[in-house]
Amino acid sequence: MAAMPAPTAAVAPLPPNLSICLGVSGSVAAVKAPELASALLRAGASVDVVLTEPAHALLQASYRGAQPWAALEALAAEHAPDGARPSRPTLRLWRDRDEWDAYRTVGEDAVLHVELAKRNQLLLIAPLCANTLAAAALGLCGNLLGSTLRAWYYDLEPAFAAPLQAKFGAHALERPVLVAPAMNTFMWHQRVTAEHLETLRRRGVHVVPPVAKRLACGDTGMGALAAVDDIAAAAIALLRAHAEQAAAAAAAGTPVFQP
Ligand SMILES: Cc1cc2nc3c(=O)[nH]c(=O)nc-3n(C[C@H](O)[C@H](O)[C@H](O)COP(=O)(O)O)c2cc1C
Repeated sequence: MAAMPAPTAAVAPLPPNLSICLGVSGSVAAVKAPELASALLRAGASVDVVLTEPAHALLQASYRGAQPWAALEALAAEHAPDGARPSRPTLRLWRDRDEWDAYRTVGEDAVLHVELAKRNQLLLIAPLCANTLAAAALGLCGNLLGSTLRAWYYDLEPAFAAPLQAKFGAHALERPVLVAPAMNTFMWHQRVTAEHLETLRRRGVHVVPPVAKRLACGDTGMGALAAVDDIAAAAIALLRAHAEQAAAAAAAGTPVFQP
């Protein structure tokens, strides 16, 4: 008789009220956004999905007989904020136009990219396409996703960050950023890709590398988005570690940073 497999260690639930900003950029792998968002919700995190316009366009394509944009909208409807259940994970969809359409009164209306940076504890960009990678490496912020990354609490000048970290703890100004690149094999192997990724790594950005397989464009090789489960597991591990640092700081009496 075959030996029984060892029971898998139970995964501890996430503390409540943690949230992830999920940036989706213009790789064909954007069609996996509903699957990735579902995995994050199942783990107990709220999700603010920020789509670039090319990602939104790619989500209109049919994928394995389903319509990914319709699937994302259904997830948003199912996980709409509910005042009666405030700790239930929510999912909200954001596009570039949302940054501008609701902004009417200076000094009163929230600035969406700043709010997204304030209220999320992890920024995950998956898929990260070549263009958004290049923009991130240069610090460009010509869309909602780029602006959110530029408003994120990370990679700050030491002289600016040090007094805040002394008061609120290092974790407060080091919110994790995780990216999962996905692109055509020849795009991936251009040297500029490695240069841009190295730039992000130097800033502390975590990377789930792509995998080799037959790509949607027909080429075979490196560049496909990593498995959704692997990306979700890496995201949840980073989110959990950050939450544990925050809890330890709070237990030690450190004031909570309220951006
Ligand atoms: C059908 C299609 C599939 C694409 N797939 C990818 C891809 O997997 N990776 C990538 O880097 N670019 C891909 N592109 C190109 C990007 O969508 C394009 O560079 C776009 O400007 C990215 O904009 P964004 O960074 O604002 O999302 C694809 C374009 C099309 C039309």
